[in-house]
Amino acid sequence: MGRDVIVACDFASKADVMNFLDKFEGASRKPFVKIGMELYYAEGPQIVRDIKARGHKIFLDLKLHDIPNTVKKAMKVLSNLDVDMCNLHAAGATSMMQGALEGLTREDGTRPILIAVTQLTSTDQETMERDLLIKEPIDKVVMHYAYTAKNAGLDGVVCSPLEAGKVHETCGKDFVTVTPGVRFADGDVGDQKRVMTPAQAKEIGSDYIVVGRPITAAEDPVAAYERCVAEFVG
Ligand code: C5P
Repeated sequence: MGRDVIVACDFASKADVMNFLDKFEGASRKPFVKIGMELYYAEGPQIVRDIKARGHKIFLDLKLHDIPNTVKKAMKVLSNLDVDMCNLHAAGATSMMQGALEGLTREDGTRPILIAVTQLTSTDQETMERDLLIKEPIDKVVMHYAYTAKNAGLDGVVCSPLEAGKVHETCGKDFVTVTPGVRFADGDVGDQKRVMTPAQAKEIGSDYIVVGRPITAAEDPVAAYERCVAEFVG
């Protein structure tokens, strides 16, 4: 699986995202685009078709979590939308993850890359113990969820770039790590707490970096994207 930079297009409307993507018309490389809940729920599945029609790969970040049968059917719908990557919560457990894979697999045997969210980065040790009644250390829980996802047949996990090396040690080097929390060395960290530069993420073995505001809010988004690609893909 090749390394790539995924641009988190956290925009509220089709007009805003298309205005952003227009800047890349004629650029040498079309960004892999992440569509999240906000844009998808505002615009519906047509937004995926519209962005695909412009030649972008799509990571649809909807983080499914429900009973296996429901997730299987929902994943079938997403697969027909021809997304390139989608995700779910590993907390849905093995049967849900296997159902998701079944739903995603097309008649010709192809399917989008399926990755798992382990523990949300908004959940810390205290929250996990108090609200979820999980008493194990959070690092162990994250690695266990990653391992369970791998055993269910998934392709990888979303994780902090700081965890990518450990995930590869635990689950093998081919198990994909998709890592947000990336910032340029001279950039604004914003609300992200644990960050790495694209070059550091490459060094530690991330397969995909997810970069939002350092590109979307840059004065020159195409230059910021190209800088990310140069540092991460090389
Ligand atoms: O703007 P920024 O680079 O912080 O955007 C990062 C993207 O990655 C956002 O879409 C955010 O929702 C997502 N993300 C994250 N941390 C996670 C999982 C996803 O920042 N643990």
